Amino acid sequence: MKIMITGGAGFIGAALVRHIIRHTEHHVINVDKLTYAGNLDSLAETADHPRHSFHQVDICQNQAIEELLAYYQPDAIMHLAAESHVDRSIDGPADFIQTNIVGTFTLLEAARKYWLGLSKEARQGFRFHHISTDEVYGDLGETGLFTEQTPYEPSSPYSASKASSDHLARAWQRTYGLPVLITNCSNNYGHYQFPEKLIPLVILNALEGKPLPIYGEGLQVRDWLHVDDHARALLKVLEEGSIGETYNIGGHNERQNIQVVEAICSLLDELCPEKTAGINSYSELITFVEDRPGHDVRYAIDASKIARELGWTPEETFESGIRKTVIWYLENQPWCQSVQSGNYQRQRLGIEGKQ
Ligand code: NAD
Ligand code: TYD
Repeated sequence: MKIMITGGAGFIGAALVRHIIRHTEHHVINVDKLTYAGNLDSLAETADHPRHSFHQVDICQNQAIEELLAYYQPDAIMHLAAESHVDRSIDGPADFIQTNIVGTFTLLEAARKYWLGLSKEARQGFRFHHISTDEVYGDLGETGLFTEQTPYEPSSPYSASKASSDHLARAWQRTYGLPVLITNCSNNYGHYQFPEKLIPLVILNALEGKPLPIYGEGLQVRDWLHVDDHARALLKVLEEGSIGETYNIGGHNERQNIQVVEAICSLLDELCPEKTAGINSYSELITFVEDRPGHDVRYAIDASKIARELGWTPEETFESGIRKTVIWYLENQPWCQSVQSGNYQRQRLGIEGKQ
């Protein structure tokens, strides 16, 4: 297959590109605007590979997208490009509306035009895979799981914009017959994640002896999935999923934020015992800070459909995945420095709009 991947220089997109180049014979046409979150350093392994081409293009640029589709004639589009950080969406929602909603609309229209021009056989084989999040479902109380039937009830500008893009993708399937697949995944973690998200932020702050900020009391629950497990799931859905279907993807790894941070601290105590002066354990750096506005309490995914219908289950446990992740950040400080070279220095985000 020739697969156009949008957002292929981001955290999950780059993991997907690496996975496809390593484990399949597919070709990748990588389309990414290279915002603060996109980094070609994350693609060093595949940069010069003959089955990978990179194009710095904004998905909102209709003409550029149409030209790439006409030139490469892909068999599928996997759409990951997005503004993805909840805290940034609170400070500045406009980019989220533009990329996540207008960008998805632009891509769907370009894909539809391209798809209509294909031969009957190619049209039947074509797929548009829209990659989304479990945050579209809102949050859960102490019990229950998100299924593919859970009504949408997004809380943040980020999740509302992703919910909107899911609705567009679904409508393009129902109205125009575009062969759309949708996946909604839980929180990802792993190597090459930009250090604005909880896990890399805590690892890097700890190593520098800085406070580890926990929003509220740290009792919120997320269902953590290693990014390589997500990449395998995405390819599985692309290759074997049924048109028009949605698949929830999750790690069966529910953890409170405070448990996640404590796990990182004890791994660092073991792997990196030489600490900044004055502390015996990295956990002494834990600092409770003002909560995130609209903070979702609990996410948890029922991933039984993808297991039953497509045979996908995660390979990493949280314990194996978080150990690998901490070791990766310890061994890849140059990557961490290079991606933070702009004006982001792990300062608190997401409380500007609070009354
Ligand atoms: P990310 O922020 O790390 O990467 C996003 C990528 O999209 C970046 O490379 C960026 O340059 C690119 N991009 C942004 N705007 C663009 C535009 N207008 N045109 C072209 N490229 C643009 O995000 P991620 O964590 O890799 O997430 C990828 C996708 O998966 C997103 O759609 C996100 O909603 C979804 N998702 C993420 C998670 C998670 O835990 N990170 C969980 C479930 C779903
Ligand atoms: P995050 O990594 O931003 O992912 P999401 O908001 O998409 O779930 O945050 C994960 C959880 O960690 C979330 O409940 C917010 C919390 N959090 C903190 O407590 N401190 C932090 O510094 C950050 C970035 C997040």
